Amino acid sequence: MADTLGMATQLAGNAVRFGWYSGVNWLLNREARRLGNRPRYTPTRPVPSDAELMADLRALFLRDAAAVREGLYPPAEPVGTIADHMRQLRAMFADLPDTIRRRAADDAQSATTLPGADELPDYYTQDFHFQTGGYLSDDSAQIYDVQVETLFYGAAGVMRRAALKPIAQFMHGRDQRNTVLLDVACGTGRFLREVRLAYPALRAKGIDLSQAYLDEAQRHLSELRPVELITGNAEKIPLADESVEVATSIFLYHELPGEVRRRVTAEIARVLKPGGLFVFIDSLQMGDRPGWDGLLEAFPVRFHEPYYAHYATDNLDDMFTSAGLTPLTSSFAFLSKVMAWRKL
Ligand SMILES: C[S@@+](CC[C@H](N)C(=O)[O-])C[C@H]1O[C@@H](n2cnc3c(N)ncnc32)[C@H](O)[C@@H]1O
Repeated sequence: MADTLGMATQLAGNAVRFGWYSGVNWLLNREARRLGNRPRYTPTRPVPSDAELMADLRALFLRDAAAVREGLYPPAEPVGTIADHMRQLRAMFADLPDTIRRRAADDAQSATTLPGADELPDYYTQDFHFQTGGYLSDDSAQIYDVQVETLFYGAAGVMRRAALKPIAQFMHGRDQRNTVLLDVACGTGRFLREVRLAYPALRAKGIDLSQAYLDEAQRHLSELRPVELITGNAEKIPLADESVEVATSIFLYHELPGEVRRRVTAEIARVLKPGGLFVFIDSLQMGDRPGWDGLLEAFPVRFHEPYYAHYATDNLDDMFTSAGLTPLTSSFAFLSKVMAWRKL
């Protein structure tokens, strides 16, 4: 039976999140200007109008609600209390002066000074987004989710949920209890939480290089059935060959150097069982939506994203095919692309 109430709940939740985070986005930009943030970069490539962006976002929200109506996944549930949320917002605003100072000085080194940094790869110990501590501090882990939602007007969770559709198709007729899902670079566990809500008995695992982010993930997942969280490098996943039915990776590849992207892809292909599913979500690339290319040009100028420009023109199809994967589906979800691949 169609879940019409669930659909309405999902739409309402998305609308509220969009309204709230649009307000936070506006306030954050105003505060940044007040603190002397340098003027916005003007891209040479075309950018979409606000109306086009909003229409696309509306269409994404409708698709998300339709997926709930079809029973592909349950309505999203809020994480934490309003007091937690307000604390995270306050911390994000409190970090803004340092972020702006670092951006002005083109300094992305604060993570290198933190304990444990010398045991991690150099490409990783940078202040991605000019965020204090990069991925290495508890403070950074606590504000990551509100930062990402603010950047995407409350649509980050909706973009992630687009991965649940190919997973639902793959899971049709399968026993969750005998199915392993691995989220590669699971960060603060937002996607694993959606997976857990949709598939309570799935053998869900996440791997990430950041202990601080995994601790935050543990908090997000604490009231649900356990998910195995592994602290490790996706270039060397500590799982046996052909031991995973579903692998996912969301918003990771644009933060990796080209050769690391290939090593991670080879690892994902190694741990997947033949016939297994890989769902990839990351930023749009140049030419995906030609009228939006200017946004991709501006992004790494405003935020410290040292590998984004390379990612934006990398040949992902060739990379995945060379690793033994074959394409199933591909679509756009606002500023991201969603691709499903099968291991041959
Ligand atoms: C932009 S965040 C995305 C996190 C999460 N997937 C999400 O949807 O929000 C990138 C994540 O990749 C992780 N990461 C980067 N390089 C990694 C590597 N080589 N191995 C494991 N995790 C890595 C970071 O610690 C961070 O949590």
